[in-house]
Amino acid sequence: MSSKSVAVVGVTGAVGQEMLAVLEARDFPLSGIRPLASERSAGKTVQFKGEELPVEVLGQNSFSGIDLALFSAGASISREYAPLAVDSGAVVVDNSSAFRMDPEIPLVVPEVNSGAIAGHQGIIANPNCSTIIMVVALQPIQELSPLTRVVVSTYQAASGAGAKGMDALRRELAGEQLDDSPFPHRLAGNLVPRIDVVQDDGYTKEELKMTLETRKIMGLGQVPISATCVRVPVERAHSESIQVSTESPLDISAIREAF
Ligand SMILES: NC(=O)c1ccc[n+]([C@@H]2O[C@H](COP(=O)([O-])OP(=O)(O)OC[C@H]3O[C@@H](n4cnc5c(N)ncnc54)[C@H](OP(=O)(O)O)[C@@H]3O)[C@@H](O)[C@H]2O)c1
Repeated sequence: MSSKSVAVVGVTGAVGQEMLAVLEARDFPLSGIRPLASERSAGKTVQFKGEELPVEVLGQNSFSGIDLALFSAGASISREYAPLAVDSGAVVVDNSSAFRMDPEIPLVVPEVNSGAIAGHQGIIANPNCSTIIMVVALQPIQELSPLTRVVVSTYQAASGAGAKGMDALRRELAGEQLDDSPFPHRLAGNLVPRIDVVQDDGYTKEELKMTLETRKIMGLGQVPISATCVRVPVERAHSESIQVSTESPLDISAIREAF
C-alpha cells in the first residue's frame, strides 16, 4: 500500500488515542499525520512514535492533502465535517453513529463484511462497539447455518462513555460523589442497565443499535434480535453473553471448529 496522509478527528479522546496507538503498532504507512480536536485542546500535544505532535483545532480547511480521515468526535461533528473531508478528496472512516444506518453508506466490520467497502462513496461507517464484538462471534455460526434468533446480554465497561466515563469511575472508586458523571446513576459498586436513552418500546437506544446494526452488517433481514445492555463498574473491556437459534441443529464441535 502506498503511504497515506491520515487525519484523526477526536485525537484526544478515548477512541482517538486508541486509533493513534493502532496506527503506531501496525506501522501503518504514513506520509503524514494530522491530529485534530476541539478548541479545548488548542496548545496540547499528543504522543506518536516517540514524538510530541501539536493538536490542531478542527476547521473547514483541516482536510486539504488528507487521504484518510478517521472520525471519532461524536455524531454531530461527523455530520458537519465528514462531507467536507470527502469534498477535499479524503476517504472517511466514521466511528460515530451519524451514518451507520444510511442505506447508501457501508457499515463495515472487516472480519465480517469487508466486501461492502467496495460500494463506498467517500464515507465508511463502523458500528457500535457492542455490535462489533457480537458480529465477529455470530458470522462463523451464520456461515454454518442461518441464524433465526439472537438474544444478547452485554457487560459494558466505563470506556464506552469515553475518557469522561473512565475518569468518572476512577473518581467514584476513590470515594468522590460526582455531579458531573456521564452515567445516569453511580457506577462504582453498581450495575446500570440503561445505556443511552430509553425508547418507546422499552429498549434503550444502545440495545436498538445492536439489533439494527447487526442486521445491516450481516444481511439478516428481520431476524429477531433482542439485546440487554448493562454498564458494569470496570474501566475497560466489554463482555457479552449471546444465545442463538439456527435453521438447522448444529453440533457444538462444528461451532468450535468454525472459529
Ligand atoms: N465504535 C466504538 O467502539 C465506540 C466506542 C466508544 C465511543 N465511540 C464513539 O466515538 C466517539 C468518541 O468517543 P470517545 O469515547 O473517544 O469520546 P471522548 O473520550 O469524550 O473524546 C471525544 C473527542 O472528540 C473531540 N471533540 C469533541 N467536540 C469536538 C469539536 N467540537 N471539534 C473537534 N473535536 C471535538 C474531543 O476533543 P477535546 O479533547 O478537544 O474536547 C475528543 O478528542 C463518539 O461518537 C462515540 O459514540 C465509539
